[in-house]
Amino acid sequence: MIQFLLNQQLRTEHALDPNLTVLQYLREHVGKPGTKEGCASGDCGACTVVIGELDNERVRYRTLNSCLSFVASLHGKQLISVEDLKHQGKLHSVQQAMVDCHGSQCGFCTPGFVMSLFALQKNRTAIGRAASGSSGFDKAATLEALAGNLCRCTGYRPIIDAAEQACCQPEPDQFDAFEPQTIAQLKAITPRDTAELNSGGKRCLLPLTVADLADLYAANPEARLLAGGTDLALEVTQLHRELPVMIYLGHIESMKRVEVTVDTIEIGAATALTDCYAALATEYPDFGELLQRFASLQIRNQGTLGGNIGNASPIGDAPPLLIALGAQIVLRKGNDTRSLPLEDYFLDYKVTARQEAEFIQKIIVPRAQANRAFRAYKVSKRLDDDISAVCAAFSLRVADGVVQDARIAFGGMAAIPKRAAACEAALNGAEWAPAGIERACAALAEDFTPLSDFRASKEYRLLVAQNLLRKFFLELQTPDVETRVTAYV
Ligand SMILES: Cc1cc2nc3c(=O)[nH]c(=O)nc-3n(C[C@H](O)[C@H](O)[C@H](O)COP(=O)(O)OP(=O)(O)OC[C@H]3O[C@@H](n4cnc5c(N)ncnc54)[C@H](O)[C@@H]3O)c2cc1C
Ligand code: FES
Ligand code: FES
Repeated sequence: MIQFLLNQQLRTEHALDPNLTVLQYLREHVGKPGTKEGCASGDCGACTVVIGELDNERVRYRTLNSCLSFVASLHGKQLISVEDLKHQGKLHSVQQAMVDCHGSQCGFCTPGFVMSLFALQKNRTAIGRAASGSSGFDKAATLEALAGNLCRCTGYRPIIDAAEQACCQPEPDQFDAFEPQTIAQLKAITPRDTAELNSGGKRCLLPLTVADLADLYAANPEARLLAGGTDLALEVTQLHRELPVMIYLGHIESMKRVEVTVDTIEIGAATALTDCYAALATEYPDFGELLQRFASLQIRNQGTLGGNIGNASPIGDAPPLLIALGAQIVLRKGNDTRSLPLEDYFLDYKVTARQEAEFIQKIIVPRAQANRAFRAYKVSKRLDDDISAVCAAFSLRVADGVVQDARIAFGGMAAIPKRAAACEAALNGAEWAPAGIERACAALAEDFTPLSDFRASKEYRLLVAQNLLRKFFLELQTPDVETRVTAYV
């Protein structure tokens, strides 16, 4: 049984197919067809809804793609869809702004944009800017909030105008008025024990502690772990597979924490990418830049760092950076835990060192060292909401003009995210100079035999990898010049 608020209304669902998406639930089960399905793969944003969650005696509103969210993930939360915005016959101020600024033409994308604008207005800030507490219109925050919403008609300017109106002239709404009641309702349905949603022989288990997760996984080793679902749900929506048993990680608070110690940043594997941002961007600005270009805000609100590793994609963005930084992962099975350098986790295409019923509990990232340089570059066809053709991360020290302890890792160059061993060997002990860089570039051809696919040809990938190393060298030569521009094809 799961419980959540559908807008302000308490819903208790005893038997729903755990493979049902929130989008299907809204459209087919509760008669709310305002939320649209464009792509069913997280790319278009037409299905955007807002989730309200308790956060320090306030309700925190975040967007996500309902096409990639399984219904069990609603347990203990508030689901707000486009139908809920109009109140007492009056459009919400974000809807009115879309009307006033002519932000809608055919209208198919409009519910998704409205929900992204609603969350933007509620937060007034987006990822990375929350700490500033800035209010009013912020163009960069607006572009970030809307990067996951596609429109084929308006050309976006009217929608950005609507964002400006909505952020500069927000009106108190029913969500503000009802907030005390919503908080009380959310507290009342806060999960207090492992829950289970099942129907038709399919189950989703929702543990609250790491120990319970370990036990449940040991008892159900065939289960699929569900974190944000932004990769896993595609198996259902795109490949039309069934997932008979899932274990949802989103209620395990200790796996959603980021702790900064003297030497490390420890990130619970179920931490949303949005929540990883502050610590990683502060320590490693290039990591922050990469996270801002990781998918869309909807996906980052939902997708986790552990899921990015667990998915073991050769083009996952975080692994090359984490490998170059020397990150370790902590794996747990039953009562046993073990640590593993992340580079040893990936064995072959989608094959990892993870054993049956073992899961990633946390990721441990070393803190920055004053004498080490770190840079990362993502090359993709689009700036926003696109997957890498090549992702490169470089970390090394230069002492007395000589390279030491180079750690270089790439995504998109092999079947796994991988260190460039020959390139590192060419650099270590060599003079930090153009001739040494050229030898290291040549060595990259020994490290990698990339594939051609629709993102890039093998020749392009190798050349880009070499050019990124040259770029890294040039940037370090001129550290005061802002050359760390975002790269895209
Ligand atoms: C539109 C779109 C754009 C995207 N853009 C990017 C991008 O720019 N860069 C990028 O790298 N990725 C991108 N992705 C992929 C995806 O969003 C990321 O890989 C994300 O980090 C996955 O996290 P999740 O929590 O959603 O994982 P889930 O889908 O929940 O899980 C993914 C896999 O990992 C396993 N898993 C989850 N947690 C654990 C754990 N703790 N231990 C062991 N296994 C676990 C699951 O069982 C599953 O097999 C994109 C996806 C979409 C749909
Ligand atoms: S339907 Fe396109 S992102 Fe969900
Ligand atoms: S108004 Fe037609 S797709 Fe946006």
